[in-house]
Amino acid sequence: MGSPRWKRLCLLVLLGLAFSVLFYGHYYGAESPTSPRLPQQETLQLPQAELPQDARSHHLVGERVNQTKDSSKEESPHHHKEKSSLCPWSLKSKVKNDPTFGKQFDFDGPVLMWNRHFTPETWKKLKERSVPYGWRGLPHSVISSTLQLLSNAANIRLLNETTSPDGCVRCAVVGNGGILNGSHQGKEIDAHDFVFRLNGAVIKGFEADVGTKISFYGFTVNTMKNSLIAYAEYGFTQIPQAKDIRYIFIPSDKRDYLMLKSAILGIPVPEGYDKGDKPQKYFGSNTSAEKFKLLHPEFMYYLTERFLKSEIINSQFGHLYMPSTGAIMLLTALHTCDQLSAFGFITDSYRTFSDHYYDHEKKPLVFYTNHDMLLEPELWKSLHRAGIMKLYQR
Ligand SMILES: *[C@@H]1O[C@H](CO)[C@@H](O)[C@H](O)[C@H]1NC(C)=O
Ligand SMILES: *[C@@H]1O[C@H](CO)[C@@H](O)[C@H](O)[C@H]1NC(C)=O
Ligand SMILES: *[C@@H]1O[C@H](CO)[C@@H](O)[C@H](O)[C@H]1NC(C)=O
Ligand SMILES: *[C@@H]1O[C@H](CO)[C@@H](O)[C@H](O)[C@H]1NC(C)=O
Repeated sequence: MGSPRWKRLCLLVLLGLAFSVLFYGHYYGAESPTSPRLPQQETLQLPQAELPQDARSHHLVGERVNQTKDSSKEESPHHHKEKSSLCPWSLKSKVKNDPTFGKQFDFDGPVLMWNRHFTPETWKKLKERSVPYGWRGLPHSVISSTLQLLSNAANIRLLNETTSPDGCVRCAVVGNGGILNGSHQGKEIDAHDFVFRLNGAVIKGFEADVGTKISFYGFTVNTMKNSLIAYAEYGFTQIPQAKDIRYIFIPSDKRDYLMLKSAILGIPVPEGYDKGDKPQKYFGSNTSAEKFKLLHPEFMYYLTERFLKSEIINSQFGHLYMPSTGAIMLLTALHTCDQLSAFGFITDSYRTFSDHYYDHEKKPLVFYTNHDMLLEPELWKSLHRAGIMKLYQR
């Protein structure tokens, strides 16, 4: 226990806490618990000089480039949109009629990245930007060999066909906030067509409050592995596994590409931080390409620029900043579902509740330096007020 590594860890935790306190003056918290208390684990850099308009207005570079052969012939990069909806009550129409959000949302860009996106033009552009918005410092061979494996129709669309009678796809995103303790929202949550969960999504013992259905589990390799460590004592001992679960990789580091590639190939991670890790340990025995989705770095860039452009970016901690995992999942669902409810996210009454719904005793929300936990709840509140999504509050 007295090893230098432990001492270093403790020091980093203390440093992290000190930064939090300095930065926000008080505790307030993250849904994304797993974003490390160890700031060095997420070394992300934001491009500072690019214009927000650049984020999506001209879609992808490489879009007009000749198509290459693969198993998804009928899918051109233009068809990155989820299938056009017949839903008469889609949040898209609410967005379009909203003077503010109408300008912020762009439903035409890609949400997911797949093999067709890997063109010389895309490489040239994204290698100038740091993760998670680009590929700066990442080896061409790692990116290309990973993306090459994402050629399945399931890698192109987030949502598959559903059979809702009115044609509306209903989604729920479930954060891990203390507001869900004693909420009795389990049935309501499970009634949605697709349920998104993330990080330390403890279910056992909380079925009545959070439900059991999982369509998507979203994470970075860093938050996933941190969750297994931090929440093991609450029963989060395994990443959710089931035939119907799909995994959404947030590309925050080289680790994410390496883990994704190794999973699809069914081999241990060959190098780097997770060297030797068996992907089956996390995702179960079937790790075929259909199980995985990779968020497009351009989508990450767009949603940060348009929705969560935090002032932290301009601070000395700017390079650590990234929207929380919950925020990324919520914004992903907002760009793909017809109707959306958010559960377990921070609301005005957060002081009434513990950090997580599964805490053994009440704990204040914890602020992490790498997320903006003031900006995010403001956005959820505005989206709720505008009728674009439903935010569970009590
Ligand atoms: C596209 O392919 C055609 C024929 O295969 C070729 O003539 C043309 O130069 C290609 N265009 C680009 C932009 O690569
Ligand atoms: C669609 O995806 C959901 C969630 O992953 C899954 O439960 C369902 O079986 C899928 N349906 C079809 C038709 O593939
Ligand atoms: C693996 O899962 C996918 C998606 O559910 C399914 O289509 C495929 O048949 C499964 N493969 C095996 C070998 O079970
Ligand atoms: C969860 O709710 C129960 C009853 O509503 C309460 O007794 C308990 O203290 C709550 N747990 C936390 C961590 O707040």
